Amino acid sequence: MNNRPVELEVNNLCKYYSAGKKRVLKAVDGVSFVIHKGETLGIVGESGCGKTTCGKTCIGMLPKTAGEVKYKGRDVHAMSKKERFDFTGKVQMIFQDPYASLDPHQKVYDIVAEGIRIHKLAKSTAEEERMVLELLDMVGLNAEHAMRNVHEFSGGQRQRIGIARALAVDPEFLFCDEPISALDVSIQAQIINLLMKLQKERDLTMLFIAHDLSMVKHISDRIGVMYLGNMVELTTSAELYKNPLHPYTEALLSAVPIADPRASRARQKIMLTGDVPSPVNPPAGCRFSGRCRYVTDQCSKVRPELREVEPGHWVACHLRG
Ligand SMILES: Nc1ncnc2c1ncn2[C@@H]1O[C@H](COP(=O)(O)OP(=O)(O)OP(=O)(O)O)[C@@H](O)[C@H]1O
Ligand SMILES: [Mg+2]
Repeated sequence: MNNRPVELEVNNLCKYYSAGKKRVLKAVDGVSFVIHKGETLGIVGESGCGKTTCGKTCIGMLPKTAGEVKYKGRDVHAMSKKERFDFTGKVQMIFQDPYASLDPHQKVYDIVAEGIRIHKLAKSTAEEERMVLELLDMVGLNAEHAMRNVHEFSGGQRQRIGIARALAVDPEFLFCDEPISALDVSIQAQIINLLMKLQKERDLTMLFIAHDLSMVKHISDRIGVMYLGNMVELTTSAELYKNPLHPYTEALLSAVPIADPRASRARQKIMLTGDVPSPVNPPAGCRFSGRCRYVTDQCSKVRPELREVEPGHWVACHLRG
């Protein structure tokens, strides 16, 4: 069990969007979890299940519909201007698409220096310069790169620039929204390794969103599985892989490639039947009930709560417990 202090606490968080004519799209619908200091929590789930919305609402980039998010005990959605400014120095983001998230015509130096300037972290130009070069060095870039425009860089290099920018203000918390999805597989591992190294060195707390379970396993201490706006399972990475309890997690894991061909052949691949239901009109009971191979009568009527069925292992399923 993690006995370090709780850094981020999310209670029953809901984020709804209007879908016109009194219709409501429930992107995040009653999600709760905590992240401890220095911990990396991964969130996985299919496209559209609400990962980005959840992450952005957690760091106050989006207003919430209901529930509560606290960062070090402070309500993220009820901060004064001054508190908000301090918060943006402590909490940084790295986004999925390094092509879209960085201005291609800006110089690398200015991108990395921006946070240092906003938060007045350097006492002189010389100090700013030293800080920027140190940050570039940390992510595997050099002084020669600093004066070039972003459009001259590859995807992997751009993501390194994005990481240097995020680290410039010496944050405590990183929200990474699929930071490797847009990159080549060979580059993905490099970026993951870099993030893991920096996380250790700086004792960062991370919320790490991913599609891909195989990559998220390496970087996460614990993993939360989302399905259609709900958190359906939450436990340590090792436990999730060894002992998945939710039928949806089981199906997700069965699709992850394994290196050992014999183990790979032995494993049964579970095909999910049915379509992902619409978050505009989600099923009344368990949101996964329409695609679940173990579905019972109760499942389509009553929504299962996320419960701790084994120490540190939470699952929202009527079949468990
Ligand atoms: N600004 C918005 N207005 C209305 N609906 C939105 C908005 N942003 C997201 N949604 C909807 O909310 C749901 C969750 O979207 P979200 O982007 O959080 O999913 P995601 O899990 O991050 O998906 P992906 O893996 O594709 O990034 C989707 O149905 C999406 O269409
Ligand atoms: Mg997303």
